[in-house]
Amino acid sequence: MELILPDRAYYESYLDAIGEYALNHVAACPFLDAAAYDIFERINDYRFGVNLPLGYVSATYLWLVDDGNFIGEISIRHSLTDALLRYGGNIGYGVRFSEWNRGAGTKMLSLALAYAKKELGLKKVLITCDDDNIGSARVIEKNGGVLENRVKNTIDGAEVMMRRYWIDIA
Ligand SMILES: CC(C)(COP(=O)(O)OP(=O)(O)OC[C@H]1O[C@@H](n2cnc3c(N)ncnc32)[C@H](O)[C@@H]1OP(=O)(O)O)[C@@H](O)C(=O)NCCC(=O)NCCS
Repeated sequence: MELILPDRAYYESYLDAIGEYALNHVAACPFLDAAAYDIFERINDYRFGVNLPLGYVSATYLWLVDDGNFIGEISIRHSLTDALLRYGGNIGYGVRFSEWNRGAGTKMLSLALAYAKKELGLKKVLITCDDDNIGSARVIEKNGGVLENRVKNTIDGAEVMMRRYWIDIA
């Protein structure tokens, strides 16, 4: 398994991964909306901080791949705004449904933390997850996440309790 900059060679596999979420009725697909826009353009825009919506910061997207298959996506936001400090954090990720519970999420975050330190010069990162997202909380904790607190956020009109973890990577 390796963590790479997104590559068109994996696009078909990426589309399959989006399809797996729909097939398994998982409401929130964590991947980019390939049906709505050119994901490679979007990924480049984020990487270089161009054409971003107001208030958005630049971010590097990375893909976990294995043996020709797309396994998961992780994005590293290069800085934090007030909103990101409260609920978005520095890092977001998702693993394709068929690969859940096999260690991919833990591995992907570990490789991304090394990338964030070496390539982006980050010294500590904030990662948030819903309080009831046990899998994501485990992934963060297994990578050294220290829980700062739980905060209640209103997202799309619904109240959500979220955990805020910091990971020191200096
Ligand atoms: C959260 C997610 C990334 C976890 O990825 P994964 O590849 O399944 O994680 P791992 O296999 O590395 O599992 C890490 C630990 O979490 C546990 N775990 C994973 N999913 C779990 C679940 N649904 N419920 C309880 N525990 C879970 C694993 O058993 C493992 O536990 P262990 O440390 O005791 O062995 C994946 O479920 C996913 O993509 N979910 C949808 C998107 C999402 O929630 N992203 C995170 C947003 S904050």
